[in-house]
Amino acid sequence: MPTVAIVSQKGGSGKTTLAIHLATAGAYAGKKTVVVDTDPQATAAAWADWRGDFLPEVVTSPPARLAKTVEKLAKKGADLIVIDTPPHADASAREAIKAADLVIVPTRPRAFDLHALEATAEMLNYVGKEGHVLMNGVPARATKMIEDANARVVELGLKVCPVSFGERAAFHHASGDGEVATEIDPESKAALEVQELWKWTAKQTGIKGGKGGGKKKA
Ligand SMILES: Nc1ncnc2c1ncn2[C@@H]1O[C@H](COP(=O)(O)OP(=O)(O)OP(=O)(O)O)[C@@H](O)[C@H]1O
Ligand SMILES: [Mg+2]
Repeated sequence: MPTVAIVSQKGGSGKTTLAIHLATAGAYAGKKTVVVDTDPQATAAAWADWRGDFLPEVVTSPPARLAKTVEKLAKKGADLIVIDTPPHADASAREAIKAADLVIVPTRPRAFDLHALEATAEMLNYVGKEGHVLMNGVPARATKMIEDANARVVELGLKVCPVSFGERAAFHHASGDGEVATEIDPESKAALEVQELWKWTAKQTGIKGGKGGGKKKA
C-alpha cells in the first residue's frame, strides 16, 4: 500500500503543510488517506484537532513504532499513508524513508535550506532510496533562483519534483484554521498546486482515479 514520507532536516521547510494538503487531496479523491505524525511537536495532529471530525485521519506514532503503525493501517485498508517527520531528527527521518515508497523533500529555494539538503541526501543514499525535492515557498518571478536550486538538487544526486509550491498566503491561513487551501479558496493558485501534487503522487505510487480538489470539507 502506497506510503509517502515527507522528510527534510531543515525546520519550517513545509513538511507538515505538504503532508496535510496531500492527504486531504487524496481524501477528496475518494481515497482512504491517513497522515502519520511522527513529530514530537505533533503539528499535524494539532491541525486535525482544530479541523474536528473531518477527513483525513491523522494518527501519531513515535519513530520506533512507525513500521508497526504503517502495517496496522495497511491491514485496516488505507489507500495512502503520508508520514510527516520532525526536523533535525535522524532516527525519525531514517524510519520514515525506510517505510516509504515515495520520499518527498520540501525545501525553500535559498542557500541555507539547500545546504541542509546535503544531510537528507546522505540519509537517502544510506538507506538506498530516491528523494524528490519539491521547491516550496517559491517567490514570484524567481526563474533563475529555481534553475540554480534545481541544479544543486541534481548535484546532490536527488530528483527534482516537477511540482512546486509558491509563497501563498492560502497555505498559511488554511492550516491555522484546520483547513486546506482548496477549502478556503478552490480557485487559488495554492489549490491548483496541490491538485498537481496529488496527480503526480497518484501516478508515482500507482493510485488510480479521482480528482483531489473540493470546496467543502470531506
Ligand atoms: N508555500 C507556502 N506559502 C506560504 N506559507 C507557507 C508555505 N509552506 C509553508 N508555509 C508556512 O511556513 C510555516 C512552516 O511550515 P510547516 O510547519 O509546514 O513546516 P515544517 O517543515 O513542517 O516545520 P517543522 O520543521 O517545524 O516541522 C508555517 O507557518 C506554514 O503555514
Ligand atoms: Mg512540521
